[in-house]
Amino acid sequence: MPAKKTPARHPDLESVLVTKAQISRRVKALGRELKKIYGDEEITVVAIMNGAILFTADLLREIDNPIRLDCIRTTSYGSSTESHGTPKLVHGLTLDVTDRHVLVVDDILDTGKTLSLIASMIRGMRPASLRVCVLLDKKGRRLVPFEAELVGFQIPDKFVVGYGLDFAERYRNLHCIGVLKPAKQKG
Ligand code: IMP
Ligand code: MG
Repeated sequence: MPAKKTPARHPDLESVLVTKAQISRRVKALGRELKKIYGDEEITVVAIMNGAILFTADLLREIDNPIRLDCIRTTSYGSSTESHGTPKLVHGLTLDVTDRHVLVVDDILDTGKTLSLIASMIRGMRPASLRVCVLLDKKGRRLVPFEAELVGFQIPDKFVVGYGLDFAERYRNLHCIGVLKPAKQKG
């Protein structure tokens, strides 16, 4: 079989922050961390659409626990790189989470508004346990106090796309995580 070529960097990216190989190694390590935490217990995974879809799909294949998967959706950034106001839930849980081990998965922890809203909503449903796993964490941007139990990578305060993260719904299918060129950060 011919050797697989590494895809060329997308022309709209100014730089690559996390490569495909780094993501893949870290996702495997997170899978091992999850296994240590949960043992053989069943996990109810709550993925936040759309950003967490790629990360969740890869992460779940790194663990062999029984899994129940649910997806929820909050209001999005639209064609902007800044979050405005308070996020609202536009599609809530369909599974019952009471007395379950719940793991919320998201692409990025930024201001903290989205995950603190979701965590308090789920806590109100009295799960057996609640943990949050994010691929990326922009610690310097927090507007409400919130920390995730599992973090893939700490990143600087830059707007990033790829591996699920978008700008105006584009770039989610990039294999790496990169910073968009300023000229491309306009709706
Ligand atoms: P929050 O500000 O922590 O509530 O983050 C809410 C959501 O904003 C995240 O789940 C992402 O979908 C999106 N977001 C935050 N920072 C970025 C970024 O750099 N690129 C793409 N989406 C982002
Ligand atoms: Mg999101």
